[in-house]
Amino acid sequence: MPTRKTETKNGIAANGEAKTGHVKDLKLARDGKARIEWADRHMPVLRTIRARFAKQRPLKNVRIAACLHVTTETANLMRTLQAGGAQVFLCGSNPLSTQDDVAASLVADFQIPTFAIKGEDHKTYYSHIVSCIEARPNITMDDGCDLVTVLPTKMKPYLKDVFAGTEETSTGVTRLRAMAADKTLRYPVVAINDADTKHLFDNRYGTGQSTMDGVLRATNMLVAGSTVVIAGYGWCGRGLAARAKGMGATVLVTEVNPVRALEAAMDGHQVVSMTEAAPRGDLFITVTGNKSVLRREHFAAMKDGAIVANSGHFNVEIDIPALERMSVGKRMARPYVEEYRLRGGRRVYLLGEGRLINLAAAEGHPAMVMDMSFANQALVVEHLVRHADRLEKDVHGVPEAIDKEVARLKLKSMGTTIDSLTPAQAKYLSTWSEGT
Ligand SMILES: NC(=O)c1ccc[n+]([C@@H]2O[C@H](COP(=O)([O-])OP(=O)(O)OC[C@H]3O[C@@H](n4cnc5c(N)ncnc54)[C@H](O)[C@@H]3O)[C@@H](O)[C@H]2O)c1
Repeated sequence: MPTRKTETKNGIAANGEAKTGHVKDLKLARDGKARIEWADRHMPVLRTIRARFAKQRPLKNVRIAACLHVTTETANLMRTLQAGGAQVFLCGSNPLSTQDDVAASLVADFQIPTFAIKGEDHKTYYSHIVSCIEARPNITMDDGCDLVTVLPTKMKPYLKDVFAGTEETSTGVTRLRAMAADKTLRYPVVAINDADTKHLFDNRYGTGQSTMDGVLRATNMLVAGSTVVIAGYGWCGRGLAARAKGMGATVLVTEVNPVRALEAAMDGHQVVSMTEAAPRGDLFITVTGNKSVLRREHFAAMKDGAIVANSGHFNVEIDIPALERMSVGKRMARPYVEEYRLRGGRRVYLLGEGRLINLAAAEGHPAMVMDMSFANQALVVEHLVRHADRLEKDVHGVPEAIDKEVARLKLKSMGTTIDSLTPAQAKYLSTWSEGT
C-alpha cells in the first residue's frame, strides 16, 4: 500500500503523493495543458461526445479507475468522462509511457487525481494502481489488464463496488479471456480493442506510424535501404510493415500463424523464420503480444550494430535477461538507446528498455486516431452504466451501434459523405429470390 503523507496547502504532500495524485512535478502543468489542448483540436469525435455528456451527465456519481498510458489523448478522455459526471482516477499502464507534463496538468488544471511518473519503478507502478483502486471504482478502464488482475488477487474487498470494465488493447483482451475461462473475472468487461473503429485504425495506422516515430526519435537512423524485421503480422504488424516499406526498407516478416504469414507474403513482404532473419536485419521490431520472440540464439546471429525494439504491450517480447547474460558490458549510447557489447566485440542496441517504443521514445499514437479509440471508451462506459446489470461476467464486444456511430461521427468530422442504400438495394440484400 502506498504511504499517505499529510497534505500541504495545495493538496500535495512533501513526497508529491496525496489524494490528488502522485506526479513528477506540478510546475510542468502549463506545458501539459497546452499539449492537451493541441490534442483536443484533433479529437472532434470525443469533443462532440464531451459536449453531449456535459449537458446530459450520463455518468453522474460513477467512480472510474483508469489504468491507461498517461498521454495528451488520455487526458481528453478523462475530461470527457468527468464532463459526463464521473469521478475519475488515473494511473499509468506502463512505467515508461507517462508524459509528466500531462500528469501534472490533469492534477493542477483538471482536478483529476493522477498517479503516474515516467520511469517509475515496479513497486511505485503497482502502488499507483493500488491508489486508484482505493478510490473504490464502480468501473475499471484498463490497458493491458494490470489493474483488473490486481483486484481479485490483492484487493478483493474492492470488487464489491465494481459493476463493469473496459479493456483497451489486444494483450489485455487475451489476459481477460484467460481470466473468464478460469472464472476469475468477476464482472463484465468490454473489449474496446475488438471494435472495428479501434483495431483497424489505432493498431494499424496508429502503431504503424508512432512506432517508426519512436525508433527515429531514439536513433535518427535512415530507414531507406535498411532491412527491417517485423515479428507479428497482426493489426499492429501490418501497419508497421506498410510504414517501413513506404520509407524504403526491405521488410522481413516473421509469424506463427500461417494465414497471417500468407497475407504478409501477398502484401509484398518476405516471410522468413527469425533464425533466417537474425543475421539479415538492421532493425528488429516485435509486435506479437507474446514472450521471448527475440532470444539468445537470435542475438548470437545478429550483425554488429543491430537495433532491437518492441512495440507490443509488455517488455517480455525481447528476452532482455538473455541479452544481459550474453553481454560483457553495456552503456547508454544516447537516450533510449542501450548498447550491449557481446563477447567478440559485436554490439546490439536495445531501445527504450524493450518497452513499447512509440510511447517510451515518442508520444504514442496521433490524437486523430485515438479520437476513435477513446470515443468507443466513452460511449461504452455510458452503455455500461445503463446495461451492465444485463451482462454476464465475461468479455463482451463493443455494441455494433456504438462502433458504427463512432465511424459516422469521424467521417462527419472529416467532411466526408457516403452513399446510403436505395430502398430497392436494401430489399435486394435482404431477400434470396433474385439470382442469375
Ligand atoms: N504500441 C502500441 O501503442 C500498441 C497499440 C496497440 C496494440 N499494442 C500491442 O501490440 C501487440 C500486438 O497487437 P495486435 O493488435 O497486432 O495483435 P494481433 O493478435 O492482431 O497480432 C499479433 C500477431 O503476432 C503473431 N505472433 C504471436 N506469437 C508470435 C511469435 N512468436 N513470432 C511471430 N509472430 C507471433 C500472432 O500470430 C498474430 O498474428 C499486443 O501486445 C498489443 O497489446 C501496442
